[in-house]
Amino acid sequence: MNQPVMGGVATLNVPAYIKQQKLINWVAEIAALTKPDRIYWCDGSQEEYDRLCAEMVAAGTMKKLNQEKRPNSYLACSDPTDVARVEDRTYICSNTKEEAGPTNNWMAPADMRATLNPLFDGCMVGRTMYVVPFSMGPLGSPIAHIGVELSDSPYVAVNMRIMTRMGKAVYDVLGTDGEFVPCVHTVGAPLKAGQKDVAWPCNPTKYIVHYPETREIWSYGSGYGGNALLGKKCFALRIASNMGHQDAAKDGMGWLAEHMLILGVESPEGKKHYVAAAFPSACGKTNFAMLIPPTSFDGWKVTTIGDDIAWIKPGADGRLYAINPEAGYFGVAPGTNEKTNFNCMASMRENTIFTNVALTDDGDVWWEGLTKEAPSHLIDWQGKDWTPASGTKAAHPNARFTVAATQNPVIDAAWDDPAGVPISAFIFGGRRSTTVPLVTEARNWVEGVYMAATMGSETTAAAAGQMGVVRRDPFAMLPFMGYNMSDYFQHWLNLGEKLGKVNAATLPKIYCVNWFRTDDQGHFVWPGFGDNMRVLKWMLERIEGSAGGIENIFGTTPRFGDLKWDGIPFSPEEFETITSIDKDAWREELKLHEELFTKLAYHLPKELTAVKAALEQRLA
Ligand code: GTP
Ligand code: SPV
Ligand code: MN
Repeated sequence: MNQPVMGGVATLNVPAYIKQQKLINWVAEIAALTKPDRIYWCDGSQEEYDRLCAEMVAAGTMKKLNQEKRPNSYLACSDPTDVARVEDRTYICSNTKEEAGPTNNWMAPADMRATLNPLFDGCMVGRTMYVVPFSMGPLGSPIAHIGVELSDSPYVAVNMRIMTRMGKAVYDVLGTDGEFVPCVHTVGAPLKAGQKDVAWPCNPTKYIVHYPETREIWSYGSGYGGNALLGKKCFALRIASNMGHQDAAKDGMGWLAEHMLILGVESPEGKKHYVAAAFPSACGKTNFAMLIPPTSFDGWKVTTIGDDIAWIKPGADGRLYAINPEAGYFGVAPGTNEKTNFNCMASMRENTIFTNVALTDDGDVWWEGLTKEAPSHLIDWQGKDWTPASGTKAAHPNARFTVAATQNPVIDAAWDDPAGVPISAFIFGGRRSTTVPLVTEARNWVEGVYMAATMGSETTAAAAGQMGVVRRDPFAMLPFMGYNMSDYFQHWLNLGEKLGKVNAATLPKIYCVNWFRTDDQGHFVWPGFGDNMRVLKWMLERIEGSAGGIENIFGTTPRFGDLKWDGIPFSPEEFETITSIDKDAWREELKLHEELFTKLAYHLPKELTAVKAALEQRLA
């Protein structure tokens, strides 16, 4: 291979197994711009992972946890200003503003390049640039897509090894002219000669930028989660949603990249279905994907395909097939415990990277909700002594764990199958303390798309900004849409129409759920977690045609007697408090739908406006 000459910066030292000149030239070009001291090509080996972790321990970025209690696991604590996705700093730089749509920040590509270029110039001085090759989806599968992330963060390199299929084998798939999505990431903190590094370098200025036309990702200033692990939200959702939409122009169908978990559920009679569910960030996807049915649900089994992202493609049989493009989970720690999510706890017994949780005196981890009683002493996520009297949170509310999917005890046998699994139902759910009932089945695809499009949810700690305010979060995709939201609604409508023509009987049913209604004291009324199985079972029986329900203004809901209650004392009165429809509240809610539709007026599908008009009539 031709090794480009690098004027005055690190030598490239391209490994012999890399055969693509275009890739090498790009790495050289980015190195010439960012000026790292060293370039390191990740091979994805265990030896490499252990070595990079050891280097981060030595540098103070991570702590090694007690080897007996939490084997091969680490704790990283971030800068307190860098703890979540930054939606207001995230841009979709399509050629026109209309293509990005009114829900995205936009800047013309040339203007953004002119803005970013001086920031990236020399941004890696004093650091190592890691070349991280990864595949979203099984290596070499026809549905997978490859990315290469250049990052000056070793934390990103080791997390990417867990979250994606990362390593040397990617280059074999890439060959001499295979395509890849170029991803450039920097923490934006160059080191002057002799300057001492900090544990978590980052920059108060942040940019998370996508160029859909050229399929590039540029991320500046943050080392955290979706801001920095560019295979996840940036590639697998924002760029991939664009790809799926653009492919519709080629094959008449296209495909979907969704913020969805995928689970398998099997009845005692051995009937198995797969469902995909979209809940906004920190609203229960990981939990639902691994749920353990109540003990009274003898013989029911739930297995996981994925916990955050689904790529969904139409098959020739008119069904939709879903894969999980990821290989690991970057899950919310607070609230997770042996009771709420035993499988999740089992997944993180070893080989786990924890971020922003608290450290116990015996070198293990703790977070709010892990145990009823907090330990008497901890080191909190900011490195300070903590006791139950401190009055602060020991773990950051968006503290997370990174684990390989293969550590999940209920991983589905087909989780890695490049063919994907057929989807029988879509579930959409927000976090709503009022108004939205426990579960509603849409009467048809168009009304289901309306439910998903108008979904509201209270904001969580997963994104920087105010918590607990209700906002519209269409399809749980508001922060992750790579193109115009109205065009996306149209894409969903088109797909449903076309698939329905191939086989109307297998078109997935669409449900809307809400686990989060509260009582007068602000307590959740619905037990949630494993008990969500009760709702899931009803859905499956609806699909099979065996469960009853009644129609209301929005669709079909179960009556008290339509759900299985064995094993919990849940009264019809309590059921009423989480399923009742307050018409006044819904009239107010529809004003918010109106507000959303006004904002999305450009290209808004007429079918959706018609559904709204019909709803208003039924409410009147
Ligand atoms: P992202 O990874 O941010 O996309 O989030 P997620 O949707 O995977 O969220 P996750 O399952 O990690 O849950 C986030 C929080 O919601 C945790 O604190 C859970 O304990 C809580 N949670 C999950 N399921 C339920 C439920 O059924 N009821 C209630 N009340 N809380 C839940
Ligand atoms: C989310 O916020 O929806 C996440 C976590 O899944 S992050 O990868 O940080 O975006
Ligand atoms: Mn997510």
